[in-house]
Amino acid sequence: MERTLILIKPDAIEKRLTGLVLSRFEALGLEIAGAKVVRATEELLRQHYDNLKGTPFVDEVVKFMMGDYNNLPDHRIYAFVLRGDNAVARVRAALGATNPEKADPWTLRGQFGCIKNGVMQNAVHASGTPQEAEREIALWFRAEEVLP
Ligand code: TYD
Repeated sequence: MERTLILIKPDAIEKRLTGLVLSRFEALGLEIAGAKVVRATEELLRQHYDNLKGTPFVDEVVKFMMGDYNNLPDHRIYAFVLRGDNAVARVRAALGATNPEKADPWTLRGQFGCIKNGVMQNAVHASGTPQEAEREIALWFRAEEVLP
């Protein structure tokens, strides 16, 4: 059993893709172990994207995640924890490559991602490793909000 964090990003929320994304993961046999709507602060997003610190695009990524580039009346992110065998790698495979123009066409990012204003709007975040997943779950969820 493994857990992974997924974030439905503002572009996917604007396109009403949440149900489609979740059904794709449920069809893999993964279960939802946590779910919430988050009004993410800049501080939370900078902690989440700690690995991007010092890159020329981190500020744009944070702005995008705060909803600045999508037409949503209330900025938000939908955060989910998924649980199942080999969940991290299987969810990443369903997402495809980070760059939507390079992602396989049948993956979520290949189907629904785009690049606008030089920022990758790639629909969904998913943890890269089981260690990253546990760090990210602790960042986005309190212990009592999520199944073990
Ligand atoms: P990263 O953690 O490297 O990728 P992933 O989301 O696949 O784990 O990057 C985080 C986000 O930053 C990524 O989803 C899109 C954005 N990004 C850019 O806008 N430009 C870039 O060159 C990279 C590498 C990422």
